Amino acid sequence: MTEPTYILGIESSCDETACSVVADGREVLSNCVASQIELHKRFGGVVPELASRAHIESINNIVAEAIAQAGVEPGKISAVAIANEPGLIGSLLIGLMAAKTIAWIWDVPLVAVNHVYAHAYAAALDEGPIEYPAAALICSGGHTALYRCDSPMEMTLLGGTIDDAAGEAFDKVAKILQLSYPGGPVIDRVSKDGDPNLIDFPRSLLAGDSLDFSFSGLKTAVLYHVNGVPGPRPTRTGRKPGPAARRASMQANAGRGIENFTTQEVADVAAGFQAAVVDTLRIKLRRAAAKIGVKTLVIGGGVAANSALRAAVIKLADKLGCAVRMPKMAYCVDNAAMVAGLAYHYLQAGKIADLTLAARPTVRI
Ligand code: KG4
Ligand code: ZN
Repeated sequence: MTEPTYILGIESSCDETACSVVADGREVLSNCVASQIELHKRFGGVVPELASRAHIESINNIVAEAIAQAGVEPGKISAVAIANEPGLIGSLLIGLMAAKTIAWIWDVPLVAVNHVYAHAYAAALDEGPIEYPAAALICSGGHTALYRCDSPMEMTLLGGTIDDAAGEAFDKVAKILQLSYPGGPVIDRVSKDGDPNLIDFPRSLLAGDSLDFSFSGLKTAVLYHVNGVPGPRPTRTGRKPGPAARRASMQANAGRGIENFTTQEVADVAAGFQAAVVDTLRIKLRRAAAKIGVKTLVIGGGVAANSALRAAVIKLADKLGCAVRMPKMAYCVDNAAMVAGLAYHYLQAGKIADLTLAARPTVRI
């Protein structure tokens, strides 16, 4: 029996320091993640400078832990994989330097993978191969994009967000509702007690055949629902708005402030918001699937952990008569198993990097 190909993967593109060992691109032997959620909680979002410092503190331990948990002799590891794009530059650099150092010391190839492509591969981990062509919807805190996938490495971008990412909208709306950070899991939980049809929040960019997304209008609609519509601004001459304008503004300004919302009302807002996001994602995925004529629907990224989205995508696949692949919860959010898994295909194809590899914070994906 031939020895499996073991790859050590490293991921540090945002606020998770992660390392994993994966055999033959599929079998996850270890999946270690040092989360920075507690560090960024009080800011309601990731603070890049704090994130890079925390990566420096965690990286050595997390790599050692992943190797120990996998129970594979370092001498048997065939390559080191790194997600070198896209992400926060300071964060990417920490993982990249660690990956280069290990590859150099072990004298094994360095393999570079795109973090978003790795999210689209996550559904293949611990499972059989994905059947292509597939339509992949990747939505996380930093990205919302639709791809046509013809193999793990052949990804064609069909559409993306023109403003906020879906996960970012979950995080910002949770902040408006004074729920905890990160917003996705808590809105998912709270929504179960709410009525998704009570408040008709807007679904954006549905006209025509657009495959792009926009979530900032939805976020603003939630803000206005809670705090009211801001009154008219002073005129250009600096004069205050007249009585008619003030009256109109007061009528529109029905917001009561979140402190006056009951638990049930918060749940209804959360459920209405979540339904608007899920509807939009489902409609765009259906359009992409029809355009491609897919064998499989794939979702990935932190928002792929959302229970309403998972249910909607299963239903959609059933309607379309195609397969559906969704990552296990641990592989939805940022992790290094998806990086090591995808890197196996690059290694097989001889696509390896060298020690001059750069980190690229924003790339055309
Ligand atoms: O993939 P990920 O760990 O990081 C990025 O690459 O951005 O995704 C994190 C995002 C956060 O915005 C978080 O609120 C969201 O994924 N998220 C969820 C759920 N779990 C995490 N969004 C909706 N529902 C969830 N259950
Ligand atoms: Zn991610």
